[in-house]
Amino acid sequence: MKSIFVLCFCLLFSCIIGCDTFFTSTPEQGETFDQPLDGLTPEQQLAFVRGDEAFEKRFSFNEGLGPIFNQPSCESCHPADGKGHPLSNLTRFGINNGTTFDILSEAGGPQLQDRAVPGILPEAIPAHANAISVRSGPVVFGLGLIEMIPDMEILSYTDPDDLDSDGISGKPNFVPAPGWITQQPGPHNGKFLGRFGRKAGVGFLLQQIATAYYQDMGITTEFFPQDNPHPQRGIFADQRPDPEIPMATLHDVAAYLQMLAPPNRGAQTEQVQQGETLFAQIGCASCHVPSMQTGFHPTIKALSYKPVSLYSDLLLHDMGDELADNFIEGDANGKEWRTTPLWGLRLFEEQLGGTAYYLHDGRTSDLSEAIRLHGGEAEPSRNSFLGLSESERQALLAFLKSL
Ligand code: HEC
Ligand code: HEC
Repeated sequence: MKSIFVLCFCLLFSCIIGCDTFFTSTPEQGETFDQPLDGLTPEQQLAFVRGDEAFEKRFSFNEGLGPIFNQPSCESCHPADGKGHPLSNLTRFGINNGTTFDILSEAGGPQLQDRAVPGILPEAIPAHANAISVRSGPVVFGLGLIEMIPDMEILSYTDPDDLDSDGISGKPNFVPAPGWITQQPGPHNGKFLGRFGRKAGVGFLLQQIATAYYQDMGITTEFFPQDNPHPQRGIFADQRPDPEIPMATLHDVAAYLQMLAPPNRGAQTEQVQQGETLFAQIGCASCHVPSMQTGFHPTIKALSYKPVSLYSDLLLHDMGDELADNFIEGDANGKEWRTTPLWGLRLFEEQLGGTAYYLHDGRTSDLSEAIRLHGGEAEPSRNSFLGLSESERQALLAFLKSL
C-alpha cells in the first residue's frame, strides 16, 4: 500500500515537473536567434515571416529536392538559425597544385553532394583530390548588418605587411559576383569584398542564398535554372519544372536573413568585465574586432547607421597547419579562414540542445580547446591565453559566454 502511495506521489511530482517543461513561456526579446530587428515596417515584418517559413521548409523529392543534394532544408544545417551540428557538415574538394587550384567540376566538385534521389548514386570524393574542406553551418543572424558595413571600415583593419608588427595581417578576400547580383563592376579591380562563408568567399547575401538552394538542396531558381549536374549522369530533369521556387521566395529568404537580429549581450558581471579587458590585452580583439558600424540602407531603416557588435574583422587570417584545409577560395589560401564572429556565443549550447560545436568544421565542443587550436597569426595570442592564471582564464571564458 505504502509503495503504491509513493508511486502515485512520484507520478504526480514528475507530471508537475514535466508540465513545466511542456509549457515553456515565450522567450524574452534578445534571448533567441530567430527574432527580427527592432523598427521594421509592417511590410518588412510580413516578408520576415514569409522568409522564416521558407527557411524552415523541408523539400520532398516531388517538390524538386535533388537529384543530388546535402540536406532537405536550410534549417537542417542552420538549426534555430544557429550553428550547424557536425552531422550536417558539408564537404568541398579540389586539387591544390601549389600555384593553381582545380575545383574538379567534371568529378562533381567543388561541393560533395552526399545524398541523392532514389535510384541515383550520391557523389563520392575523387581519390586524387588533395584539398578537402569540411565545413559546418555558421549562425545566420545579424547578416543584414554585416552586409551593410562599408568596405572602407572593414578594410581599415587590414595590415597585409604587418606594419604594426603584432604578427597579425588580416587580408581581404576580393571575389567576383555573378551578373545577376550586380551589373556594376566591383570597386576593387572589378571584384567585391567577400564577407560570407568560412573563407569570406561570397560578397552578397542573395548570392549565398541562391547558391545554397542550388548546391546544398538541388533546388533550382531563375539564377540557377538547371539542376546541379550528376558526375556520371550529367544534367537530368527531375519531375518538377524549373525554376522549382519563384523569385519571390528567394527575396523573402533574403529579407528574413537581412532582418534577423543578433541576440542581446548577457549580464555584465565584474568577472565578465575582467575577461573583456584580458580579451583585448592578449590580442584576441585584434582579429575579433568588438564592433563596427553599418552605413546607409535605402529601404530598411533598421539597418542604417547601426552598431554591429560582431567580434570579427571579417578578414582572412592564416590559422596554422592544424586548422588548414589546403582549399583555395578566391584570395583565401589553404590555411586562411575568416575570423568567426563571436556574438551569440552565450546561447549556443542552450539553443542547440546542450552542446555547441566550434571552429569551421565543429571539431570541438570545448571552448578552451577551440582557442588552443588557434595557430599561425593567432599563435602569440593563443600562447598568452595558455599562460593566464586559472582565475584569469575563467574570466576570459565568462566574457565569451556573455556575448
Ligand atoms: C548541408 C548544409 C547546409 C544547408 C542545407 C544550407 N547551408 Fe547555409 N551554410 C552551410 C555551410 C557549411 C556554410 C559555410 C559555407 C562556406 O564556408 O562557404 C553556410 C553558410 C551560409 C551563409 C553565410 C553565413 C555567414 O556567416 O557567412 C548563409 C547566409 C547561408 N548559409 C544561408 C543558407 C540558406 C538560406 C539555406 C537554404 C536555402 C542554406 N544556407 C542551406 C551549410 C548549409
Ligand atoms: C589572428 C586572428 C585571431 C586571433 C588573434 C584570435 N582569433 Fe579566434 N578565430 C580566428 C579565426 C580565423 C577563427 C576561425 C577558425 C576556424 O574556424 O578554423 C577563430 C575562431 C574562434 C572561436 C570559435 C568560434 C566558433 O563559433 O567556432 C573562438 C571561441 C575564438 N576564436 C576565440 C578567440 C580568443 C578567446 C582569442 C584570444 C585568445 C582569439 N580567438 C584570437 C581568428 C583569431
